[in-house]
Amino acid sequence: MDKFVITGNKKLAGEIKISGAKNAILPIMTATLLTSGKSELINVPQLIDIKMMAHVLRVIGARVELEKNVMSIETEHASFYEAPYELVSKMRASIYVLGPLLARFGKARVSFPGGCAIGTRPVDLHLKAMEQIGAKIEIEHGYINASCAKLQGTTIRFAKTSVGATANTLMAAVLAEGTTDIFNAAREPEIGSLIDFLNNMGAKIKGRDTSHLIVRGVKELHPTTQKMIPDRIETGTFLLAAAITKSKIKISNCFPQNNQALLDRLKQTGCELVIDKEDITIFPTNVIKPVDIVTYPFPDFPTDLQAQFMALMTIADGESRIEDTIFPERYMHVAELNRLQAKISVQNHVASVKGVKELSGADVMATDLRASAALVLAGLAAKGKTTISRIYHIDRGYDRIEQKLQRLGADIKRIKG
Ligand code: UD1
Repeated sequence: MDKFVITGNKKLAGEIKISGAKNAILPIMTATLLTSGKSELINVPQLIDIKMMAHVLRVIGARVELEKNVMSIETEHASFYEAPYELVSKMRASIYVLGPLLARFGKARVSFPGGCAIGTRPVDLHLKAMEQIGAKIEIEHGYINASCAKLQGTTIRFAKTSVGATANTLMAAVLAEGTTDIFNAAREPEIGSLIDFLNNMGAKIKGRDTSHLIVRGVKELHPTTQKMIPDRIETGTFLLAAAITKSKIKISNCFPQNNQALLDRLKQTGCELVIDKEDITIFPTNVIKPVDIVTYPFPDFPTDLQAQFMALMTIADGESRIEDTIFPERYMHVAELNRLQAKISVQNHVASVKGVKELSGADVMATDLRASAALVLAGLAAKGKTTISRIYHIDRGYDRIEQKLQRLGADIKRIKG
């Protein structure tokens, strides 16, 4: 297993280009199953999760190629309606095949996703919505067996806002008979980008960026080509890398409006930001003011940046409180950050972070994707050497992060395991 070795306490400088958004690309990949033919996704990075989803689609019978950041997906021969345990257990996002398979074939068999490092992560909202739209759902031998004669438009009110359940419901509803009203839908930019893709395929979805989506079912869809949106979590991670190393950097190819909650908090820490249409330049502050965060669905502070923001708060001038209301158990990084001499304690699902003068390098272990990013940030700021093991987690969702950081002047090396 590969490791990162970071010699920290060095300033970064320069410009970094943001890659396509993993969490937008994964559901869009499965949306191509809704029709027969060749779709093209532009601006797709080489990430383990994306390769894994390509594998899921190949098992279903699609032809998937990724060359120079352009992914082509040919779905003419897709006919196997199953996502097996071996794949779903490695990547929860495989659940995104449920809606498209049901809509196209009237059948889907998807292994029931288990828990993961960030919590229990149920799929009850996905299943309830599929039932409401006319599917019969049975759970058998660890598999979700879904079937329907024809999906029927209906009204769905989500008890909780869920990115995944909104995406799956949209992908089922686009080919249903009649109109589906979705209330309390997720408003994340990745959902907006899925709506654009589906509408480009010929779907009729209204209400983009609002919590009430109206889907008028159509008889059939057609393949399409679309450029993938920039990754707002990668954008946020690099902004926080600049802040924690007290460096000025320019982040280009990003959509600043998708990071508003983070940008507001960064300004509160004392950093200055110059925001343009598709780039952000961050000017650091020497004294980082402590800022509290609570994660909520978009447009509020994203859970996927909670760990990285906590890394910054470890060297703030005072105490901050961090609460994750999306995944209340998502604090696996706390113990590892404390190994770098951070002072964090968690009580009743709230982390209190007492800022220290400096972090000190140590051996730590990556536990999940965003936790690993937090450790990289902490390692960049810490005095001395930090070795991070199990970095396959970070390769799932960041496009060659060490190469991008090296280009900014960081001393980070990958040691092949
Ligand atoms: C997606 C993202 C993930 C991000 C999360 C929240 C992808 C591949 N993953 O995950 O990176 O952290 O959004 O922004 O895009 N819930 C239920 N029942 C369900 C579904 C969800 O109770 O059936 C709960 C979850 O436990 C959580 C909340 O709803 O508390 C939000 O989860 P959700 O938005 O569904 O997250 P994912 O789609 O799994």
